Amino acid sequence: MTTLTKPPLSTLLDQLFADADATQSILMQQMEQLSPEARQAMVASSADYRQFYARAKDFHLAVSRETGVLLYLLARSSRARSIVEFGTSFGISTLHLAAALRDNGGGRLISSEFEPSKVVKARYNIEAAGLADLAEIREGDALETLARDLPESIDLVMLDGAKVLYPNILALLEPRLSAGALIVADNADWSPEYLARVRAPDGGYLSLPFSDDVELSIRTAATGRQAR
Ligand SMILES: C[S@@+](CC[C@H](N)C(=O)[O-])C[C@H]1O[C@@H](n2cnc3c(N)ncnc32)[C@H](O)[C@@H]1O
Repeated sequence: MTTLTKPPLSTLLDQLFADADATQSILMQQMEQLSPEARQAMVASSADYRQFYARAKDFHLAVSRETGVLLYLLARSSRARSIVEFGTSFGISTLHLAAALRDNGGGRLISSEFEPSKVVKARYNIEAAGLADLAEIREGDALETLARDLPESIDLVMLDGAKVLYPNILALLEPRLSAGALIVADNADWSPEYLARVRAPDGGYLSLPFSDDVELSIRTAATGRQAR
């Protein structure tokens, strides 16, 4: 048994995924009332993403169960000790990553969320899972909260906030990425600029679409502090 597959976390994740499934259809109905252009702008435009996430503040928008397990497997098999996440929501992906840190023998996870009510719920869930000693949720815009006080070296990054910001967040974290660091980007096909960055030949990454909705990349070259 792993931390992921035994109570209290397994029970909590069953509840959270059930809640995510039940509420997803309500969000879909709301989105369908918008024009395709308005939907696209909300997800892809830097002007409108705050409006979209404010509207979605009561919804998980969570990773799939499979992506959750993938996060655990990647963090566990790479023996990650230092993880940064963009987009906490109520904490489903965060819980998978923190469970891997627990089973790796410890570490530090920094996650970021700008909806205050989501931060409260995510912290509650992490506490309920007994993982609060491993995970810190930074409240505010990740462009600010992930621009400071980062670990010297980062082993794994999870990108799941506003898709239009993926290149900006990667640029913030890049100087700290260890050679071999893993980057998981959910729904990265909504961020063409990000895909161009990580798939560029000789751009310092090796990258592939891992499944329908996940781009998995590895940092091949160390930069900044890592290179010195
Ligand atoms: C797709 S959801 C994250 C789902 C989460 N990873 C999970 O598996 O449950 C994206 C979250 O990122 C947050 N977010 C979007 N842009 C952000 C930003 N610039 N800074 C901080 N949080 C942001 C949204 O409020 C939303 O809760």
